[in-house]
Amino acid sequence: MTPDYPASLPSFRAPSLGREAAGMASDLLEGSRPSRILGVWPSEEVMAHYCLQKRHMFKGAVCELGGGMTCLGGLMVAISADVKEVLLSDGNEKSIQNVRALIERNRQAGKFGSTRVSSSLFLDQYRGSLVDAIRRLLQPNGMALVFAPLRGETLRLFCQLAQQSGLCVSQHQQYDAEVWDVHLKMLREGKQAYDENIHYPLLITLTKGPQPDRHAQ
Ligand SMILES: C[S@@+](CC[C@H](N)C(=O)[O-])C[C@H]1O[C@@H](n2cnc3c(N)ncnc32)[C@H](O)[C@@H]1O
Repeated sequence: MTPDYPASLPSFRAPSLGREAAGMASDLLEGSRPSRILGVWPSEEVMAHYCLQKRHMFKGAVCELGGGMTCLGGLMVAISADVKEVLLSDGNEKSIQNVRALIERNRQAGKFGSTRVSSSLFLDQYRGSLVDAIRRLLQPNGMALVFAPLRGETLRLFCQLAQQSGLCVSQHQQYDAEVWDVHLKMLREGKQAYDENIHYPLLITLTKGPQPDRHAQ
């Protein structure tokens, strides 16, 4: 299903993001699902798939915020899209070390030659700073993609904050046919196996001006 891509990455940077982000990382580590910080969250996998499908929409500089242990979505953009630079970021130093190691290993294996957000919206104290970071990073004609499940009120609160900060916000439920099919199949398995409130990532697009239609199917 995944096409082959040339073995070259555009320039890659993975900075560590300072004290607040370190606090965030430890909140997550002490949270109810500590093992998740060591793996890939479903939103990141869905975002990676989406980025591959929509690789033509990525131009210029792309930044992934909160890419976690793999920054999978950002790396898919880096290997498949015609972009100049991809900045992979996370506040957790361990994530950055792991992503550096992944890139090095793939480089040695000959897979790589050398934004977008899938971060946590569910911790109340960090939603404001995420909106602020997106607003500061976004070019006037750029677009931020956020993949996150509803998780109670948390996604709605994030969208509300983003709107209050002056961003144009749009929410998409059916953004990819394959992902939607899997979602419908999982729903049939029952709530014990799949709870869309925490498992199905919605796509939120954020822009500074009116939204173009380029994310539509
Ligand atoms: C829920 S995890 C998701 C990780 C990854 N996107 C995935 O889906 O596998 C959220 C990530 O965002 C990072 N993060 C959250 N808030 C942050 C902040 N304010 N600054 C930097 N990183 C942050 C955390 O360290 C963590 O790796």
